[in-house]
Amino acid sequence: MHSPIPDYLLEVLDACGTDGGAVADYIPELAAADPDRFGICLATVDGTVYSAGNAETTFTIQSMSKPFAYGVALADQGHEAMAEKIDVEPSGEAFNEISLEPGTGRPKNAMINAGAILTHSLVAGDDGIQRTERLREMFSRCAGRELRIDESAFTSEFDTAHRNLGLAHMMKAVGILDCDPVEAVRGYSRQCSIEVTCRDLAMMAATLANAGVQPTTGEQILSRRSVRQMLSVMMTCGMYDAAGDWMTDVGIPAKSGVSGGVIGALPGQVGIAVFSPRLDSHGSSVRGVETFERLSTDMGMHMMEVAHEGRSALRDAFTTDGPDPVTVYQVQGDLRFTGAETVVRAISEAEHTTGRVVLDLTRAYRLNDVGQRMLLEVARRLGLDGIEVAMVDPDHALHGPHVEASGLEMFDHLDAAIAARADR
Ligand code: DON
Repeated sequence: MHSPIPDYLLEVLDACGTDGGAVADYIPELAAADPDRFGICLATVDGTVYSAGNAETTFTIQSMSKPFAYGVALADQGHEAMAEKIDVEPSGEAFNEISLEPGTGRPKNAMINAGAILTHSLVAGDDGIQRTERLREMFSRCAGRELRIDESAFTSEFDTAHRNLGLAHMMKAVGILDCDPVEAVRGYSRQCSIEVTCRDLAMMAATLANAGVQPTTGEQILSRRSVRQMLSVMMTCGMYDAAGDWMTDVGIPAKSGVSGGVIGALPGQVGIAVFSPRLDSHGSSVRGVETFERLSTDMGMHMMEVAHEGRSALRDAFTTDGPDPVTVYQVQGDLRFTGAETVVRAISEAEHTTGRVVLDLTRAYRLNDVGQRMLLEVARRLGLDGIEVAMVDPDHALHGPHVEASGLEMFDHLDAAIAARADR
C-alpha cells in the first residue's frame, strides 16, 4: 500500500502556496533566492522521513542555527554559567534589536541576534573558525550527513553585517561579551552560512524531538537537560515578536531563519522543516508559517492539545491460575508522573491475596525519574506488607543505583518471574 502521508504533504503544499511576503534583501546573497521554492519534510523520532516539494534544495541555515548553537554552548559552559550571560525571556522585539537587560547587560534570549552572537562566542574554540567548525561538525551529526559552509553566503553576510557588528560592539561596551566583537560576528555569520536542506533540518529537529538522540544513528548528541532548555527557549522566543501568535496558533517549539526555513520539534513525536524564501514582517517564511498552522490543526500537533497518558499506562492486571497464584501488573508506554500514578493507584487499591506481585515492564518503553521512584516505592511498600515483589524488565527501564539498592528480584521474562515462585 502507498502511504497516505506523502500525498497529504503534497496537498498541504498545494493549499499553502500563497505569494505574499518578500525575499530577504539585507544580505545580497539571499536576495538572489528563487522566491517560489517550497519544500516540506517530516522526520519521526524513529527516523522515518516524509517529504514533498523542494525538500532537497540547499539554502543557508541562518537563525535556525541558534537553538543548536545554544545547545553546544550549554554543553561547553554549563547551564548556570550560560544563565549568567543570557536570559530566557521573550524580548517582544524584532530579531535584530539590541534587547539587553539593564544592569547586567544580558541579552534577553539566545534566539535574537544579540543573544546568538554572544552564544556563538561561548562555544568552545579559539576563534570564529574553530567555533564554527565545532558547530558544523555537531550540526552534521544531527543531520546525519556532512554539512558544508556556503563561503559566498558567509562573505556576503559578513561584508554587510553592520547592524550585528553594532550589537557586538555594544555588548563589548557593557562588558557581557569577552572576545573581540568582530571575531564574534565573523564566527556567527559563518555559523549562519552552514548549508542545509529541509531533510537535514527535519533530522536535526527530530534529534531534539527525540531528547537529543539522533533518530537514525542512535547517538546521544545533546543531553536531555540541554534539549529541554533549547525547546523551552524555542517555544517562548523562537518566533521573536510573533511568539504569542505562534504559541496559540501552532503550539510547536520552533525557529525561523531569513533564508526562508522554519523548523519545529514536537517532543517525542516528530521534527518538521519547511522552506520557502518569501518572508513576513517578523523575518519568517510566509508559506512556512502557513504550513505549520495547517499541520498543527490537521494533525493535532499543538503541544497544549490535551493527551491522556495515564489511561493507557496499565495494560493489564491479572492473577495466574494454579496452586501458587501470582498477581501480575503489566505496564506499558512512556511513564511519567500521571502514568505511574495510574499504576500506583491500581496496586494500592487492590487486595493482594496471592502473596506475590510481579510488575511486568516488558512494554514500558521508558520511565522517567519520577516514574521509576514511584514504582520502586510501591515495591518497597508491598514488601513491608509481607508481599514478595518481582520485576520483569528486559530492557532496563529501571536503572541506576537505587534499583540495585532495592534488592528486588529482576527477570527478563514474565514466565520466569511467575515460575520462580513454584520453583521455591
Ligand atoms: O543575523 C542575521 O542577520 C542572519 N544571519 C540571521 C538572521 C535570521 O535568520 C533571523 N531570523 N528570522
